[in-house]
Amino acid sequence: MSVDILHLAKEAQKKKEKNPQVINATVGMYYDENGFIGGMPSVFQGLRQLDEEHMLPYPAVDGGEPFKSNVISWVLGSYEAKLRKNLYTAACATPGGGGAIAGTLAIYANPQDYVFVSDIRWQYDRYAERAHLRLFEYNTFIDGHFDLDSFEKKLFELSQKQKQIIIIVNDPCHNPTGYTLSIDEWKKLLVILNKFIKNDLVFLYDLAYLEYTSEEDPRLKISYLDVLGPHVLTMITFSGSKTFGAYGLRLGAAIALSKNEHKIIHFKKAFANEARGSWSTTPTPAIELLNHFSNKDNQIEFFKDLNQMKQVIQKRCSIFSEQAKTIGLKTHPFKSGFYTIVLADDEEKAFKQLLDHDIYTIPMSGGIRIALCSLPINEVDGLAQRIQKILFT
Ligand SMILES: Cc1ncc(COP(=O)(O)O)c(C=O)c1O
Repeated sequence: MSVDILHLAKEAQKKKEKNPQVINATVGMYYDENGFIGGMPSVFQGLRQLDEEHMLPYPAVDGGEPFKSNVISWVLGSYEAKLRKNLYTAACATPGGGGAIAGTLAIYANPQDYVFVSDIRWQYDRYAERAHLRLFEYNTFIDGHFDLDSFEKKLFELSQKQKQIIIIVNDPCHNPTGYTLSIDEWKKLLVILNKFIKNDLVFLYDLAYLEYTSEEDPRLKISYLDVLGPHVLTMITFSGSKTFGAYGLRLGAAIALSKNEHKIIHFKKAFANEARGSWSTTPTPAIELLNHFSNKDNQIEFFKDLNQMKQVIQKRCSIFSEQAKTIGLKTHPFKSGFYTIVLADDEEKAFKQLLDHDIYTIPMSGGIRIALCSLPINEVDGLAQRIQKILFT
């Protein structure tokens, strides 16, 4: 990726303050229909309710007992009892989902190892670079679906070179394409992982956008994780930034699940050490915000806000994808979520052409990424046509 997303987003924001016609589709943050960031009033309200004791002291390095248990319950949802029965589990607080990803790469790979990633992906490259790791890619899509054959073939290739392999899968609402694996694809993927019993697999399941999926049961896929054999350590990376729309708070967690108890014992010690020696602790208000929303009484307003937000995002997605389809503007396979990618042969050129028309996007993965999460419906409406005209006529 040639641009720094957060830097470009700030530039676009400044320009938009002077010229409201600017389209700022750069960054993965939800802005409501009035361009306001506090899309979930209950979250800001929850933060305001934290007193000094829940804001100012140092927290435990791993987040502390209530947090660890609360974040596991949050993510596993109604499948918690079943999964806890069949798997050993543990958690560690991290500064955002990003902290969980960085920690996993630091602990479970040696310099020059390969990390297994899709060829279309979010910026895992940055995390790998910092940990002195290389990337080993599989093809993401074939005929509009997840390319399971490539996933298996490439994983087999890598399994012959390297015993311990970190496998990153970002689902649902894959960043940057908006693709979500079907249940059938998911089950087949787990079957593939189970074939590699001679390897130690660290299955990094990045579900940053879990709450934004259009699937009927967002946690159904999680419920199948207990089919994985003892050679697998599943590492769920949870993003409080996306879950609570509180991006700057740096709330996240690494949640480890395995049939192998030793892997979980090792995780507890290694992750807390990694935390202490790098970011030290996750901010106390972040930990306490998750604890606050683990109280059922506080969840009612939160889920009301979340549903409202999901509906708005879904509407933006439908408008864009329907209009793109009607005029033949091509995107990567797309279901729902914060982003979509419009395909372009030369992504850098397309990015600049749009920039000349004050449309800020991100050039990546064979096209330009549009963060629909940050655009009001009146800006989404007609955007596909504008892009088509600028890039392809
Ligand atoms: C796919 C994906 N994973 C993880 C993250 C990390 O988010 P954070 O560190 O803010 O929780 C992001 C943020 O954009 C993301 O898009």
